[in-house]
Amino acid sequence: PSVEESKRYIKTAESCYRGTWQSKPGEVGDAVKAAIRAGYKHIDCAHFYGNEAEVGQALTEILNELGMNREDVFITSKLWCNSHAREDVIAACQTTVKNLQVEYLDLYLIHCPYSFAKGMVFPRKPEHRKDILGYDKRRMSETWKGMEELVHKGLCKAIGVSNFSSTKVAALLETAEIVPATDQVELHPFLPQPGLKKFCEENGIIITAFSSLGSAGRPRYGEADPVLMDEPLIKEIAAKRNCSPAQVLLAWGVNYGCPVLPKSVNEGRIKQNLETYNVKLEKKDMTALANIGKKFRYLPMEVFYLDGDTQESFWDGEQ
Ligand code: A2P
Repeated sequence: PSVEESKRYIKTAESCYRGTWQSKPGEVGDAVKAAIRAGYKHIDCAHFYGNEAEVGQALTEILNELGMNREDVFITSKLWCNSHAREDVIAACQTTVKNLQVEYLDLYLIHCPYSFAKGMVFPRKPEHRKDILGYDKRRMSETWKGMEELVHKGLCKAIGVSNFSSTKVAALLETAEIVPATDQVELHPFLPQPGLKKFCEENGIIITAFSSLGSAGRPRYGEADPVLMDEPLIKEIAAKRNCSPAQVLLAWGVNYGCPVLPKSVNEGRIKQNLETYNVKLEKKDMTALANIGKKFRYLPMEVFYLDGDTQESFWDGEQ
């Protein structure tokens, strides 16, 4: 790779590792408490985010404080890429359950269809590339068997996938006994993924959207990266509907038929995002957003690419 490509690789690797979604210690617990107080029911976690113990402690405290029960919240977590071997799935889930201080998860997802060698947390350096095993249809089928065992054991109520293209979901369905409840993917007006959406609808799979706000906290690499919340059409609709650009984007997801997972550690924005329920987009707003005319994937996951992969091939042409 060129020097520029290498720099970009490391920067992407590091930003993924520290993460837009990985809040600073002390921050995520407060955010969880603020969210539950505001009325959120669903907390989306992942082992990879590195903060499940803090989330679990905050959840226990806030549920006690408000006199709420475990059943009053819906907790999702995700299996990381280094635990895809069927026999590793249960231990990984048990670790998460323990960290979150719960007895079961409402939903557990395969975080990505790409595997790492055992022990590889994240390929942060070019020499780690040998530990990126990539996607293998048969391995995923085995991983899914491990996920199904979690349901049979009562550790998870439901299971699903994340970052799967329709091609990869279809491959999984060939051997799956339990149909994935959801595919959690990047989804917003710049990346509406109509093919994946149609496929999931036909197969009874709910698409859950992440980066609905255009992953606003992620570092930008260049002027060319469009900022979703600054898009003139989004701002125009926000002004017309008397709401914020973020609320337009969340309302777009809900109107499009996909639950959204906005990330915020700020109490005001946490409340604002929930109040999106009061925002009514009209059909003409949805039509205008469908014709926004820009395509952009904020989390292409380049660090997972093997030699010869392009964004197009890696995501099976989904856009
Ligand atoms: P913060 O946590 O400081 O609120 P995404 O969900 O697409 O990954 O976007 C998350 C980013 O968007 C975070 O940086 C978050 O910052 C920011 N964010 C969340 N809610 C809002 C909002 N209502 N208005 C503006 N920015 C927001």
